[in-house]
Amino acid sequence: MDQPIGVIDSGVGGLTVASELMRQLPKERLIYLGDTLRCPYGPRPKEEVIQYTLEMVNFLLKQDIKLLVIACNTATAFTLELLQEQLDIPVIGVIQPGARAAIKMTKNMQIGVIGTEGTIRSRAYPDALHGINSEIEVQGLSCPDFVPMVEQGVITGPEAYQVVETALQSIKEKQIIDTLILGCTHYPLLKDTIQAVMGEDVHIISSGEETAREVSVILGYHQTLYEGDRSPKHRFYTTGPWEIFERIAIQWLDIPINIIENANIETN
Ligand code: DGL
Repeated sequence: MDQPIGVIDSGVGGLTVASELMRQLPKERLIYLGDTLRCPYGPRPKEEVIQYTLEMVNFLLKQDIKLLVIACNTATAFTLELLQEQLDIPVIGVIQPGARAAIKMTKNMQIGVIGTEGTIRSRAYPDALHGINSEIEVQGLSCPDFVPMVEQGVITGPEAYQVVETALQSIKEKQIIDTLILGCTHYPLLKDTIQAVMGEDVHIISSGEETAREVSVILGYHQTLYEGDRSPKHRFYTTGPWEIFERIAIQWLDIPINIIENANIETN
């Protein structure tokens, strides 16, 4: 079916999920919308995140998408159920797939989750993990310094290491968890640094991979996968400046940017 998959995020971080979708579903066409103008969503109140997310969804629905991926953890935490109830297309968030991947990996049932203040406050990850297995012990930690650092392109090197080490100190010194979920779109860009700080014995989970797998299964189930042969042209929209987009997409994720446009989303 030649309808695109819609992907929304508060900004550029969702490109980590888009890149995994492109890798696993190379014939599918994506329409990505990043709300860079109003990013970050992490520290915002729930009502505001819901309002902004609905505005983004309305923009993408006008582009006739066949499935919606909420690539933003904070937006998933606050709007997934609402959108699944309201829309008549499948809606996939990043939290359940991340939780499932972590449960597959853990051996000692001790899982850490790092994310924005909003995501950690919402308790969406502990709820998702306990929904699968109520014996899992979860340690949540918000890391508000990571998103601005990634947005500035500081991803590796001594500065990134120091910020990550300081932020993760409380989780690391307990030496309990064997699996750590990167519960924020930006954190996969810091994966090597986070792994170096936590040590090789801790499994690091990025939900992008598992989310893309779920999208593939759902499109297959609904018989809406694109079946022809093509290299699709993806379309990227941003509510803010393009520069950060291009830098993260090309420099860090090697995503080909075919079409990038400014989105005029209707705000209330
Ligand atoms: N996309 C957000 C998330 O995954 C991180 C950036 C933000 O705070 O908006 O939670």
